[in-house]
Amino acid sequence: MNWEDVLLIPGPVNVAYDVLLESAKPVINHRSKSFHKLYEELVSNIRTLLGTSNEVLLFTASGTGAVEALAANFGPGRKALVPATGEFSSRFAEALRIYGAEVSVVEAEPGSAPSLDVVLRQMDEFKPDLVAMVYNDTSPGVRLSYIDKLCREAKSRGILTLVDAVSAVGGDELEIDKWGIDALAGASQKCLSAPPGISFAVLSKDAISSLRSGKTFYFDITRYLEYSRRSETPFTPAVTLLSSLNSALANIIEFGVNRWVRLHIERALPLYRAFEKLGFEPFVKEEYRSRTVLSFKTPAAVSPQKLRERLAEAYNIQIAGGLGKLRDSIIRIGVMGRIPLRELVALICAMGLEVKELGLPANIEGALYELRNLEKVYG
Ligand SMILES: Cc1ncc(COP(=O)(O)O)c(C=O)c1O
Repeated sequence: MNWEDVLLIPGPVNVAYDVLLESAKPVINHRSKSFHKLYEELVSNIRTLLGTSNEVLLFTASGTGAVEALAANFGPGRKALVPATGEFSSRFAEALRIYGAEVSVVEAEPGSAPSLDVVLRQMDEFKPDLVAMVYNDTSPGVRLSYIDKLCREAKSRGILTLVDAVSAVGGDELEIDKWGIDALAGASQKCLSAPPGISFAVLSKDAISSLRSGKTFYFDITRYLEYSRRSETPFTPAVTLLSSLNSALANIIEFGVNRWVRLHIERALPLYRAFEKLGFEPFVKEEYRSRTVLSFKTPAAVSPQKLRERLAEAYNIQIAGGLGKLRDSIIRIGVMGRIPLRELVALICAMGLEVKELGLPANIEGALYELRNLEKVYG
């Protein structure tokens, strides 16, 4: 029997049937009025989601594509400061280097971010042209909690702000205009509950006037801007995936954007407490803890890899291990998008039982009790 997996990994997430079915509709011409309508709806829905009227560009590529587009169009010949938050800040730094930026990384301990003071000090010494940040670094589950202040400080010094918000868009507070985010990268398959394959960039006027074109062909933002004026993309887009993303966004807007974001935040906090009651220690200190990817050290006798295998084999629940050096030392639980409460209840019970099976204490009832108020948030 092919039992459907419950995806509690840091993306992709399970997608609702109405959203999946949009992709089953006939393929449309990407140079037609029907496509223009879809494109305009998507741009409008992304603007509503993010509360901005900034330029929105759509890429047929996973999140890395949008991040690479930022690196390729803003990095060349510039000095870039990158606060280290984990694997994804390393990737951002690497992409910037590949496209000819001089990069200075503000180092931090694994599972943490450098303090704002340290970042500002290095900013004033290095005098970058841009700061490239990962709002929510999915690899250790680190949230750059002072991102609003850092963006404001950067803008007040005339520095461009680039943000990889791939695992935060829709799942955490995000005020593009108020904070002063010049270029943001987002993707379809995480907190927006759409299938993977689409990513997007959101650009301010300052960003558009600072473009350096000609270093990439597929991701040349200048070309995308030209085509966006006629509600098209330069190259053949994944029209079916765009339809699904549009329907996922419409669902979020109907649910209420603020309510959707609150759901993520108010779901994550009690879950940290619940897993602590099962014996799992949060990997990241409270100040920088992600609201969409929860990472934990397992009790000493519990192997992260074996736990993941047991959850997958016995319960069809998929959670993740660490990335890179953290591969076998932590577990990561993605709590993104549309997760029925029953799946969280099942996860807690299954993890608690696995811990108990090894003769260790796990307060399953206490952990479940932490979720008691979520019913109200889910509505
Ligand atoms: C913060 C962050 N940036 C970038 C990416 C890359 O996205 P993708 O795997 O869709 O290319 C991810 C994916 O997990 C991510 O979490």
